[in-house]
Amino acid sequence: MKISIIGTGYVGSVTGICLAEMGHQIHFVDIDQAKLDMINSGRSPVFEPDLDDLLLKNRERITTTTDIAKAIRQTTLTIICVGTPQNPDGSSDLRFIIDAAHSLGKGLKKDQKYHTVIVKSTVLPGTTSTVVQPILEKESGKLAIKDFGIGSNPEFLKEGSAVHDFFHTDRIVIGTNDPKTKDALKALYKSLHAPFFNTDIKTAEMIKYVSNAFLATKISFANEIGNLCKLNEINSYEVFRGVGMDSRINPHFFRSGIGFGGSCFPKDIRALISFSESKGVEPRILKAVIRTNDEQPQKLIALLKKHLDIKGKKIGILGLSFKPDSDDIRESRAIPIVLTLLHEGAEIIVYDPMAMPAFKNLFPGISYARSSDDVLKSDAIMIITEWQEFSNLNYTGKLVIDGRKVNKAGREATIYEGICW
Ligand SMILES: NC(=O)c1ccc[n+]([C@@H]2O[C@H](COP(=O)([O-])OP(=O)(O)OC[C@H]3O[C@@H](n4cnc5c(N)ncnc54)[C@H](O)[C@@H]3O)[C@@H](O)[C@H]2O)c1
Repeated sequence: MKISIIGTGYVGSVTGICLAEMGHQIHFVDIDQAKLDMINSGRSPVFEPDLDDLLLKNRERITTTTDIAKAIRQTTLTIICVGTPQNPDGSSDLRFIIDAAHSLGKGLKKDQKYHTVIVKSTVLPGTTSTVVQPILEKESGKLAIKDFGIGSNPEFLKEGSAVHDFFHTDRIVIGTNDPKTKDALKALYKSLHAPFFNTDIKTAEMIKYVSNAFLATKISFANEIGNLCKLNEINSYEVFRGVGMDSRINPHFFRSGIGFGGSCFPKDIRALISFSESKGVEPRILKAVIRTNDEQPQKLIALLKKHLDIKGKKIGILGLSFKPDSDDIRESRAIPIVLTLLHEGAEIIVYDPMAMPAFKNLFPGISYARSSDDVLKSDAIMIITEWQEFSNLNYTGKLVIDGRKVNKAGREATIYEGICW
């Protein structure tokens, strides 16, 4: 099939390159020419294991443009993958979706064939039908389902293992009332061997939010119990291994630490809170999930202060990305940790294998180490992201405060504190 992918961030790049690997012809569209230039030069705009190799392998099936109308003319299906960040009040900021829908609608006007538009960006229930569809209809002068297809196909990939997740997804959610759109999505994914879950658009949109909210709840629950375990000298890792063996609970996303970050969980939970309040439903559990998550980095700082007066001391930070195998620092737990340490007068040196360029934009005034070994020379070391290479360092004689359970640090450090163990 010939597909337009609007937005070449984490979701767009992974989706487009993996679809090319499945044999589809991909037309990437972005407003950011630099990202398209990267794709043209054989490098993905985002770091994900295996993604560059797949891009190089499938280059002849991939083209790029900033012109949505041109991409639409050359394809039969468009997948919207633009960002949906949060407004300052936590609600969902739809400006990228709205801009893309206007351009798409203008493109649809000139397109003679039946073209299908799919929203893959995470949007609150009702957005596709009450925001995207009316713009497409107004700009194109056409009617949804009669003249063009429309549907929702939410994305569940995890950064750091996104390529693997694409090819081994648990399910493909197809939200549409249009039989042609349903058939188009089934044809698109047919070689994936994953179950299709067919539903209406609003339900598909809700499934995405509820999935993220449930996973985030599991993490905050683990952290609350983990904090209790720590005070009682119980290793919460052991507790969750034992509890997770119950098939009703399962062990995934069931570990304690300094909490979740990234581009999705925090903003999606806040958007769901805002949506819930707008409908008059008090989201007590969701609010507690965010509060527990916000407090967790400060608990790590409190553990450090037990052993060190941090004013004027050199604190080494291992890990800046919100999770390993990613260069994404959006809502990384390293951000509140560094802010607090700076506020309390510490000197900071940081290291991350992938995320230092992005972090430098936020914190240009701190020291960036050339290697993780340089960080080990500090008065104390805080482990924020569990990159594999941090499991090979020599922590002998060090003061280590660990937010992610790096076992070698626990065995070797002279003074060691794990956040929940
Ligand atoms: N990152 C994840 O792990 C993940 C997982 C599942 C779902 N999602 C959802 O997918 C969506 C995209 O997330 P992301 O992390 O890939 O975002 P991103 O910010 O990394 O990328 C978005 C891209 O869209 C481009 N863009 C914005 N407006 C455009 C327009 N009018 N036309 C063309 N391109 C435009 C931007 O330049 C950018 O390259 C969001 O709704 C997010 O919540 C993200």
